[in-house]
Amino acid sequence: MIEYKSPAQIEAIGVAGALVRRTLNAVREAAGPGVRLKELDDLAQRVIADGGGVSAYIGYHPVWAPSPYPRVLCVSVNDVIVHAIPDRSRLRPGDLVSVDLALLVDGWCADAAISFTIGEPSAADRRLMDATEAALAAGIAAARPGGRLGDISAAIGKVIRASGFGLLADHGGHGIGTSMHQEPHVANEGRARRGLKLSPGLVIAIEPMLQAGGRDDYQHCKDGWGIRTADGSRAAHFEHTIAITASGVRILTA
Ligand code: MF3
Ligand code: CO
Repeated sequence: MIEYKSPAQIEAIGVAGALVRRTLNAVREAAGPGVRLKELDDLAQRVIADGGGVSAYIGYHPVWAPSPYPRVLCVSVNDVIVHAIPDRSRLRPGDLVSVDLALLVDGWCADAAISFTIGEPSAADRRLMDATEAALAAGIAAARPGGRLGDISAAIGKVIRASGFGLLADHGGHGIGTSMHQEPHVANEGRARRGLKLSPGLVIAIEPMLQAGGRDDYQHCKDGWGIRTADGSRAAHFEHTIAITASGVRILTA
């Protein structure tokens, strides 16, 4: 069932979204050579608590996972695409880092992700991150009241396929609201003018995940949480939570 939100509830998700953005900005600022991934998680925990937020990740235990998720961030480095548990390893110059964060404020959840490099990006990493952000922007631009969910998926997929990079098979965005993962699933590829009608009150997270090697397949990390590219190439991930309103689309994690 799809949970349609009132304008006031969309505002409430925007409050959570602002804290998501503040936290991601703090993490990006703090990320540098020698910094441990776990230290970034500790920092995020403080920012979230100071902002009156509650992690949507800690204790999250989907059926496919071996254990409840133990941290507030996913920090996925280089060939790890998503869902990596921040550990004691240290960032190094040139690392391509994706940070994903969902939290609740007053019972309403927002979800966003960013990718960046430690130091100046290589030309190849710049292209990969730019293509991922362009795919996200295209998905958001295609989200119009009266349109269809397939318009969003098709727009994302078109940018990804034109780039020559791969996507992450079996993974995409999702409805979000009183919980992190709701209907509908938002595929990163699809057919325009198909699927759910985009009506005011629909709130979704859009999240293209791109693989530099051009493949879509993936492998699981040993811990059962992280997902890495099958070919060892690098990956990028950008995500926003957006709302369909009567007057258009609103980005709630900007
Ligand atoms: N934000 C991620 C997504 O929407 C969810 C990660 S859940 C975690 O796919 F608990 F594993 F972190
Ligand atoms: Co998400």
